[in-house]
Amino acid sequence: MGKMIFNSRMLVLVVWTCLFASGLQAQDSASVRIVPRPVEAVAVAGTFHITSSTVVSVGDEGLKPLAEYFSSLFVRPAGFSLKVCVGGQGNIRLERVDDLSAEAYRLHVDSNGVLIEAGGYAGGFYALQTLRLTLPAAIESFSPVEGVDWTIPAMHVVDSPRFAYRGLMLDVSRYFIPKENVLQIIDCMAMLKLNKLHLHLTDDNGWRLEIKRYPRLTEVGSRRVNRNGVPFPDRRNPLPGESTSVGGYYTQDDMREIIAYAQARQVEIIPEIDMPAHSNAALAAYPELACPVVDKYIGVLPGLGGDHADIIYCAGNEQTFHFLEGVIDEVAALFPSKYIHLGGDEAWKTYWKKCPLCQQRMKDENLPDEEELQSYFMRRMSRYVQSKGKEVMGWDELTNGILPEGAIIFGWQGFGNAALKAAAQGHRFVMTPARLLYLIRYQGPQWFEPLTYFGNNTLKDVYNYEPIQDNWKPEYEPLLMGVQGSMWTEFCNHPSDVTYQVFPRLVAVAEVAWSPKSSKDWPTFVEALDGYLAHLQAKGIQYAHSMYNIQHTVTPVDGKLKVDLMCERPDVEIRYTTDGMEPGVESALYESSLILNGDAVIKCATFCDGKKMGKTLELPLDWNLATAKPLLGLPAPANILVNGLRGSLKQTDFEWYTGDMNRPLTFTVDLLKSYELTECAVGCITNYGMGCHKPRVMKVEVSDDNKAFVPVGSLSFSDAEIFKEGTFIEDLKLKVDVKARYVRFILDGPGNCPSDHVRPGQLSRIYVDEVVIR
Ligand code: ACM
Ligand code: ZN
Repeated sequence: MGKMIFNSRMLVLVVWTCLFASGLQAQDSASVRIVPRPVEAVAVAGTFHITSSTVVSVGDEGLKPLAEYFSSLFVRPAGFSLKVCVGGQGNIRLERVDDLSAEAYRLHVDSNGVLIEAGGYAGGFYALQTLRLTLPAAIESFSPVEGVDWTIPAMHVVDSPRFAYRGLMLDVSRYFIPKENVLQIIDCMAMLKLNKLHLHLTDDNGWRLEIKRYPRLTEVGSRRVNRNGVPFPDRRNPLPGESTSVGGYYTQDDMREIIAYAQARQVEIIPEIDMPAHSNAALAAYPELACPVVDKYIGVLPGLGGDHADIIYCAGNEQTFHFLEGVIDEVAALFPSKYIHLGGDEAWKTYWKKCPLCQQRMKDENLPDEEELQSYFMRRMSRYVQSKGKEVMGWDELTNGILPEGAIIFGWQGFGNAALKAAAQGHRFVMTPARLLYLIRYQGPQWFEPLTYFGNNTLKDVYNYEPIQDNWKPEYEPLLMGVQGSMWTEFCNHPSDVTYQVFPRLVAVAEVAWSPKSSKDWPTFVEALDGYLAHLQAKGIQYAHSMYNIQHTVTPVDGKLKVDLMCERPDVEIRYTTDGMEPGVESALYESSLILNGDAVIKCATFCDGKKMGKTLELPLDWNLATAKPLLGLPAPANILVNGLRGSLKQTDFEWYTGDMNRPLTFTVDLLKSYELTECAVGCITNYGMGCHKPRVMKVEVSDDNKAFVPVGSLSFSDAEIFKEGTFIEDLKLKVDVKARYVRFILDGPGNCPSDHVRPGQLSRIYVDEVVIR
């Protein structure tokens, strides 16, 4: 080491030009295995070794912190630092150039050294992240590691981001994420060249930022009753006087530390103060800011809150605005970001409709309805934010009324398309569609996942997300600032619950945000991903391996069951058994659909290089008279009701069917010939917190011609039997004594949840997994 290698930048440019022009000796760009995938990258023969005598030189004093940052990476794992100098000829040279944009860089590594040419400080930082990812993962270790050769593969990279806004949102309200864990996530974001951390600091479930003028926001608003043993949607509201033992908040000093740590990593912290809804925590502290017609105890909510989620700031009370302005004063002073996010989502107008102050405000301001009252609220607060020299951000509900001037809209509903309404009015926007980029959703086959909400956003779903749609008007695209993964934390009780949901999907978000649209290639991505995950592993960060689990479908076809097994990872093989044994590397290789026509238990798992990668999936297929028989009266996906396979305790796992709850769920099984029947049953799930309950009435009718049906019996349930708490599966079994070919089930919905339910008044749903006829 030590030899000064680059005498002129021209030489390097020539090398670059030749390499990219000819491709001579270069492997393809995929062979530089880093995420997010660079614009252009070629690996060439050779490696550069970093030792205690390696010198990092920077072209100007302003870049020196970058060299010091890079040097600091080696201190703990390698036990040495690098010499840093300004203006010299180091083995690693970092210089500014003026033909690149601020975040862009060129990187040349050969066995003699490294040259980084950066458009700006940020570009230099990102070049160093590229180097970091190609170093042995032990570079992330917190303690000394012996015997590591700190090498970087020779390569040429030219890189710049696709989008300026490359974000992650962390909901620190539902689950208070300790400061140390936020810092750790920021460092992992930096490795991915993500640059915006949107902190959802306030919600019904906790106020997480010290506001000196309003101490009760944290004294009262950051604490709630302990219902941690119960899933979030099932948690009952607090009672007056109950002790509030679960809490946490960031002091302003904590936040300054987070901001500084993030700034050093090119990450901007964007604070969100949600209004006018998601405000029970603030209103628990200052109940006088709720509409005076609120007749309920206002506490910090441990769960969804039921109709307490309707308790929002009073828009008719001047004190509300004085209070929020006081909060904004401190937020604007604390956060250097030019943005403040004002939320604006999911504001139910229940109390505004009844509140004399809100109604008076509507009269005074000539507002036709409560939506425009919210618009008044948001515009008034936006003007205040702007008076502090900041720009306003908000969720896409702001498009329900007149938009605040200049507001940047975050599209989350309807694949994010709600934001296009704002784009049509010339507003900038960020895409964080719930259906693809909400990291709270399941990331893999649900049978294996910790409990969370809704359907799946798998790693591949996130990776394949393309924000710019063909049907967009041409004026929308320049208004799109970028994309954001949003991590809501309802189901988190520990920092590792957060990182499990965030990683690896945040890597796919980074790829969407940074890499060229044209560079998508799933097998290459997962290979590069493994390199990043090795860094997470070395940091001791828990991440999900869900991409190695098997998703099944079991479909009735011609009186048999067709079993399809799928894994997102293209580099694994699926092996299975049908004899009850645990699958191993010697078990049968799954190559195409399995066809079965009798009871079976399939056990399967994924393997790579002789090693088991995912969890064992067990599929017990139990046959009864209905199995694999035609199911009439419902659309095709309903044939899971006759696929011999039961659902899990998650009604969203694709083994459960739900219909339109405004009419009875009605279907007929054609047994194909007449049988003597003794029992007709359906499997139902109760998931209390999600308002999933069994039917009020189950009627069974039979026929021999599928025209004239005769009733053979029914089961009826009372409210007490239907609206039981908990999550469990029940088979509703009707004993019968009849001979028939066609069996019709009519399931009446249970109706609205009663007033003492966690979802009072909401229409409940029935989910059915299987029909059993004997
Ligand atoms: C949201 O999901 N309520 C923005
Ligand atoms: Zn009011």
